Amino acid sequence: MDSTPAPLLPRAADLVRRVLDQNPMHRGFMERALAHLQVDERDRLETYLEFTATRGVTPDYLAECYLIVVGDTLREQIFFNRNDRYRHSRYAEVAADVYHDADYMHQYMYGLAITAFLWPNHLEMARFFRRVLPRDRGGAYLEIGPGHGYYLMNAVVSGGYDSALAIDISAASIAQTRAVLEHFCPDHAGRYRLEQKDFFDATDLVPASMDAIVMGEVLEHVERPDVFLRRIAELAKPDAFIFVTTCVNAPAIDHIFLWRAPEEVEALIGECGLDVVDALRMPYEGKTLAECRTERLAVNVAYVLRKRAA
Ligand SMILES: C[S@@+](CC[C@H](N)C(=O)[O-])C[C@H]1O[C@@H](n2cnc3c(N)ncnc32)[C@H](O)[C@@H]1O
Repeated sequence: MDSTPAPLLPRAADLVRRVLDQNPMHRGFMERALAHLQVDERDRLETYLEFTATRGVTPDYLAECYLIVVGDTLREQIFFNRNDRYRHSRYAEVAADVYHDADYMHQYMYGLAITAFLWPNHLEMARFFRRVLPRDRGGAYLEIGPGHGYYLMNAVVSGGYDSALAIDISAASIAQTRAVLEHFCPDHAGRYRLEQKDFFDATDLVPASMDAIVMGEVLEHVERPDVFLRRIAELAKPDAFIFVTTCVNAPAIDHIFLWRAPEEVEALIGECGLDVVDALRMPYEGKTLAECRTERLAVNVAYVLRKRAA
């Protein structure tokens, strides 16, 4: 991968200009973030922005979507700093205002997709995913909570799977995921299925049937992450590729399960019949993992897991 910082292409340059017009205070963060973007990522950002334009999404709306995520995160961070907890702890407290509010959810998912390019922690997780995703396995791929659909699209394009199933509780997320797939992988029509449902209710899936299971940024959104992890272990074939990301001390409007350290996530993974085979633990910029623990700062974690032999 070329590691040269890349000048932005026209659509991205325009988006950044509009973000900074709407929020000049974001300039410092934005300039530091853009310095991380490599040539291939700059190109991917441009193609993602081309996709949003085909959906009739205006650059101003997209800038607003991104800044909604920035603003919501800042507000929840202030709440967290004052109260040492996330604002909500129950799914029912966030469901109507987030997952089932179509307008908000569309904005949130477009904004989140942009953070996958602009926020260094999200960029690093996307790099990790592309690095570890097997390319030649075939078989059945399951993704839980595809959201904006960008990870799923990458897996469909490069993973070589025979079939893909994605389950998301939000109709807006399913719609955005479908649009991303139709735009970026028209040749794969008929090889993927998208279902709007709670993964808790996906009881029709067959144990030991999945060759790959991916779940990005979902565990912190559920009351019982243990139930999700056990179900993943049950659905995975013995040698399945399992990829899970989550975050620690990372308040957001819909984060309801609070981990205080990566070790807590990893202990739960172990209790649920899964082993960590590769890990990315991304401390808050400029801090160590130990400092994040004592200062209650965010850590992003991504894991490649393997089902433990019975
Ligand atoms: C923060 S987004 C993550 C998007 C993407 N996977 C990523 O890593 O950027 C979380 C997604 O999980 C979905 N979700 C939350 N709880 C869920 C559940 N119980 N079952 C299925 N999907 C869920 C949300 O609707 C949303 O689309």
